[in-house]
This record gives sequence, structure tokens and C-alpha cells, in this order.
Amino acid sequence: MTGISHLISKRAKSRQSSHFTNGPSEQPPKGFKPHEKPLLLSYGTPNDGFFPIDSIDVNLVEYPFEHQQKFNNSMENLSISEKNPNSVHIERHTKNPNLIDLSKGLQYVKVEGHDPLIEFTENFIKRTHPPNYDNWSSILTTGASDGLNKACDAILDPGDVILVEEFTFTPFLRFSDNSGAIPVPIKIDLSNDSNGIDLNYLENLLKNWDTTKLPKPKALYTIATGQNPTGFTQTLEFRKKIYKLATDYDFIIIEDDPYGYLTLPKYQGPPKKNQFELKDQLTLEDYLTKHLTPSYLEIDDVGRVIRVETFSKLFAPGLRLGFIIADKSINLVIKNYAETVNRGSSGLAQTVVNNVIQDKLGGVDGWLQWVLKMRATYSYRKDLLLQTIYESKAYEKGLVDVIDPKAGMFVTLKIEFLKDDSDIILKMKELLWKVISYGVSVVPGHNMTVDKEFSKSRSNFFRLCYAPANNDYEIIESGKRLTDAILEFYENGEKF
Ligand SMILES: Cc1ncc(COP(=O)(O)O)c(C=O)c1O
Repeated sequence: MTGISHLISKRAKSRQSSHFTNGPSEQPPKGFKPHEKPLLLSYGTPNDGFFPIDSIDVNLVEYPFEHQQKFNNSMENLSISEKNPNSVHIERHTKNPNLIDLSKGLQYVKVEGHDPLIEFTENFIKRTHPPNYDNWSSILTTGASDGLNKACDAILDPGDVILVEEFTFTPFLRFSDNSGAIPVPIKIDLSNDSNGIDLNYLENLLKNWDTTKLPKPKALYTIATGQNPTGFTQTLEFRKKIYKLATDYDFIIIEDDPYGYLTLPKYQGPPKKNQFELKDQLTLEDYLTKHLTPSYLEIDDVGRVIRVETFSKLFAPGLRLGFIIADKSINLVIKNYAETVNRGSSGLAQTVVNNVIQDKLGGVDGWLQWVLKMRATYSYRKDLLLQTIYESKAYEKGLVDVIDPKAGMFVTLKIEFLKDDSDIILKMKELLWKVISYGVSVVPGHNMTVDKEFSKSRSNFFRLCYAPANNDYEIIESGKRLTDAILEFYENGEKF
């Protein structure tokens, strides 16, 4: 029993995990001695000689958009199939214990994942967000979505309450719903220098909780760094206050952090550098100590934080690969659930990620060097978009305001003239038509609410994501189209 085992759901606790290939559960008869070299006629595991793939070569780039850069420089397209010196060869068999060969990578594996990759994730967390207690572990998932669904299953029984930031990654509501839980929105403070969650609101809510209406919350779901959709990042001091509430009111914190490693400096004027000139990179130590916002794991001393990570935004979403760092008792019930739903993540995805990181990038610090290149590129894009907005007429006239994010891939564009409107959502919908007619897509805040009515008066914003654009031109052009559309809507008497 650990300090938080009473918070594990009844459903998760009741699951048993045993496999039909296990030996008899009774004590062996007297005189039994295990054989030194037992042979397998039990498992349904095809011998790796049946696998049609003999080896895989993974060709890498050294920095994001490398081919575009070469194309720009030489004006001739360099084909990806050109011989790449930066490649990883994955063999059917290897003796290197840090690598996953194809005989293992294409084979069934324990649901927690392959040892070298689990070890990598543990070393990675020790380097970036060292947990403040010992009894933790890592388990691989098929991305953050799977991790969040499993976290919900581990904690939430039907009728349990989970606190959710009022504007959020709404697929999460499907996961909490899957456990039969009731999401309760908590207000977000949308002022420009905010930490996201409105602390006063949360404190009052918890203090005055009426248990005759709803049971006390079992968990809080928060995207604490580069929040989706608002872009806010909670400071360490702020997290300590939230964690204290979690201790006082005894709830779990599910920390979802797909964006936190993409730290972004404040806008300092038009970005001067070409995004490919990464020479002014941060040092790793500066990044780790001065830029990366500490995780709730670094405050937690009893295991009440479930940290959900993913390789989706830093490596590639199609891998469907992520991991959870949590108290061992929680990861045990998550493992049992994984046996039910998906038997863990793809061995091929694990093999590619592990071997690229171990064999080519050089382990944890090498992987972080790649992350630094990603953050430099995102930082450049963010500033380019902000510059376009700051230089627009709509901004000059005070019709819009922006939240400059400290991490992630989202800028919030607030529509100032709709701030006190009596029907913000109706107006935002009409404005969205105008924006679409100008040829740009954005996400209106009201599409990402837990409860539209609750958040109506704070829904006068669009979420802008600078991740999908193909190049600088598209970022600048979309910023222009967007602000021109807003200006026209305003000048047209807030009508299409
Ligand atoms: C906050 C948040 N959590 C989770 C996810 C899902 O991540 P994954 O692709 O790893 O399932 C996303 C994706 O956009 C996200 O924004």
C-alpha cells in the first residue's frame, strides 16, 4: 500500500493479470529443480526467422526542414533517397543491450515496453524532471491520448469528479467519460501574464465544495506548460500552490505535457535569424536549468502526480508512442489495463525511436539536442506570427490582443471588441465565417470548452497553431489574412 492507493479506481483494482502460459500456481513438489535450458513449446511467438524484414535503414535529417533549406540554397531539389550519411541500420540480431534488434522489436514484448526504451524514458525524466520520490516507474503507451485514457481508468470510477481547465484538449473528455467520471470546469485567467488556472477560483471552489451535490474531486487534469488551447505555462511557485491544494483536498494531478520541452523566449521584436541558423542555440545546461519549467513530478513526494508524455510532437505523431511516469502502484494498474485494451505500444515504433536515439543521437543528451533544434524552429515561427499580428491594423487599433506563449505551439488571439458582448459565441461563429472566407483556419475558444455556457464570457479568442505551416510565407500570409478578416468584420459593424 502506498500513500495514494486509496485513490485508485475500484475497476482498476479489481483487474487481475495472469497469462495462460504461466506454470502451475501451486508450490512445486518436493525435489523439483528447474531445468537449466528449458525449451519452448508454450508461447505463440513466431520464431524471428518467420519475420519478412531482415533489416531497416532509417535515414535522418540533422535539423528540422533540412531539405527545404538545401532546396532554398541550391534551387534544386535534393531527393530524400540520396545517400544519407546520417543513417541508422537496424539489424535482425544485435548484442548491444541498448538497442532493440528486429528479432525483439517485431516480437511480442511485455506490455510495459522494451527494456532499453523504458530505461531511456526513465533516464530522460531524471535528467529533465527528476521525480521527488523513489517509488516511481515508466510505462510506454501508444501516445498521450492512450496515456490519458489509462490515467483516467486508473483513478476514476463512475460518478467521480475530475477538475478540468475550462478550455482544454477536449478529447480528454472522452477519456474521463469512458471511466464514467464527471468533468467540472475550472476557470482560466486569460490575462496576458497569467498562469492559466484561476487560483482564487479553484481555492474557493474546493473550500465551498457541496458534497451533497457532487463527491469531492478525485483528480485534476492540467496541461501545465504551453496549455492547449491558451498557451499558458504555470510557474514553479504556482505549481506548488496547486500541489498544496491537491494534498489538502487529497486529489491526483494528471499532468499532460506534450509541449513543455518546446520552451519559447518572449517576443523581442521581429525575428532576425533565419530559422535554420541555429548557431545561437542554448546550451543544454541553460535549457535545463533556466528555460524548462519544472514538472509537478519535481514537487510531488508521495506519488500523486501522473505525468503523461508523448513522442508525438517531438518525434512524430504517427508512431503512436508515449509514456507515463507515475507511482509504481498506479503504473501496475495501468499495465493491467493495457493487457485489456492494446497490449502496449508498437514494437516497431519502439525500435525506431530507441535505436535512432541510442545509436545515432547519443542517448538522453543527444535527444535533447534535437529538442533544442525543434524549440529554436518553433520559437522562430512563433515570433514570425506575432510580428505579423503586431504589425497589423487590427492590432494597432486595439481590436485584438495576443498571449505570447512561454512554450508550445499555440498563440491565443483575443478579440478585444467582443470582450463584453452579450453573446460572444454567436459573434465568434460569425467572425469565424469571415476568417474562413479570407482563406485561413483557426480554432475558436468555444470549440475547446468543457461547458460552453460556463466559459461563454471568456470565449472571445482564437487558437492559432504555427506548427503545420510549410514555410515562413504561409505563417506571414495566414497572420495577415486573419487580421484583415477581423478588421473587416469590425468595420462592418461586427457583421459578416
Ligand atoms: C494537450 C494534448 N494532450 C494530448 C494530445 C494527444 O497526443 P498523442 O498524439 O500523443 O496522443 C494532444 C495532441 O494534440 C494535446 O494537445
